[in-house]
Amino acid sequence: MNYRHLGRSGLKVSELSFGSWVTFSTQVDVDSAAECMAAAYEQGVNFFDNAEVYAGGQSEEVMGAALRKLGWRRSSYLVSTKFYWGINQGPNEENTLSRKRLIEGLQGSLKRFGLDYVDLVFCHRPDPTTPVEETVRAMHSLIEWGQALYWGTSEWSAAEIVAAIEIAEKHHLHRPVMEQPQYNLLVRERVEKEYARVFRDYGYGATTWSPLASGLLTGKYNNGIPADSRGALKGYEWLQGDLTRPESIGRVRALEPLAAELGCTLAQLAIAWCLKNPDVSTVITGASRVSQVRENMGAEAVAGALTPQVLARIDEILGNNPNKGN
Ligand SMILES: NC(=O)c1ccc[n+]([C@@H]2O[C@H](COP(=O)([O-])OP(=O)(O)OC[C@H]3O[C@@H](n4cnc5c(N)ncnc54)[C@H](OP(=O)(O)O)[C@@H]3O)[C@@H](O)[C@H]2O)c1
Repeated sequence: MNYRHLGRSGLKVSELSFGSWVTFSTQVDVDSAAECMAAAYEQGVNFFDNAEVYAGGQSEEVMGAALRKLGWRRSSYLVSTKFYWGINQGPNEENTLSRKRLIEGLQGSLKRFGLDYVDLVFCHRPDPTTPVEETVRAMHSLIEWGQALYWGTSEWSAAEIVAAIEIAEKHHLHRPVMEQPQYNLLVRERVEKEYARVFRDYGYGATTWSPLASGLLTGKYNNGIPADSRGALKGYEWLQGDLTRPESIGRVRALEPLAAELGCTLAQLAIAWCLKNPDVSTVITGASRVSQVRENMGAEAVAGALTPQVLARIDEILGNNPNKGN
């Protein structure tokens, strides 16, 4: 496993990491979570991503119980959580990045994880109704108190990220160091275009999500929605349109001969492609079973075969013009 610095911070993250969205608690119990995490850790994964809102807090509980079961040294892994939507109703408990919410939110997460601190804490979405300075100061406090070690953003605009960094620098506060954006063969624009200046000028890191577009890029949805897939889960019907869009399926099918030529699976090709972007600090993978974790970790070895010529062929196959964005 290769390790990359999280932006210009001193922290090193495995270039492939593992997240719990959808899966933990809903598809995966504590024992299976521990098995999946162990399969990733054995391959060198050191970062496990989570969020308060995943399964209404139960994803943090499952990960915490799995970590206790696994008994790893605390210094050997990184855990994250994220705040924005909240898990309770009330004027100060939903859709906010206020000081009260962030501080109370992290207290709840630490309790559910059974941890003294998280390594990374993210603002899961921007909150235009709270002054950015209030959010920056709350994140600074959490870091000063040792409850979190680094903080970052998720799906903020480049302008919002720069505003937070500049406020932090002006007041000598801990600044955000990483963004968590979606990035995969079908969703590239924000990472490659909008954030380019944030990576270049501020050394921002990126922990990217949905490298398989929720599984679409494995080819598993080419002939409809399999009964044992994310697309068939109750509560995730909203994903079905994206997972079965004929244009996307056509692009996935068009990649199949290249994966065969490279001797890898479509999932490995899609994840390896994300690794080729040097602005990506870590690609957060997801899996509902150990066999998927093992297959996905194989992407490390495939990345070496993605030469500039192969990357250009991928753009051609997908109909992407990298100079135009898509
Ligand atoms: N910050 C944010 O807003 C945000 C948003 C989304 C995700 N994330 C983070 O990013 C992580 C990864 O996102 P994601 O789960 O959407 O990743 P993904 O790689 O796009 O999708 C993972 C899902 O695809 C299927 N899959 C994975 N590997 C497979 C394989 N080899 N063969 C067949 N199917 C396979 C599995 O679902 P089934 O087996 O159920 O079909 C798995 O749960 C999340 O866990 C979370 O930590 C963050």
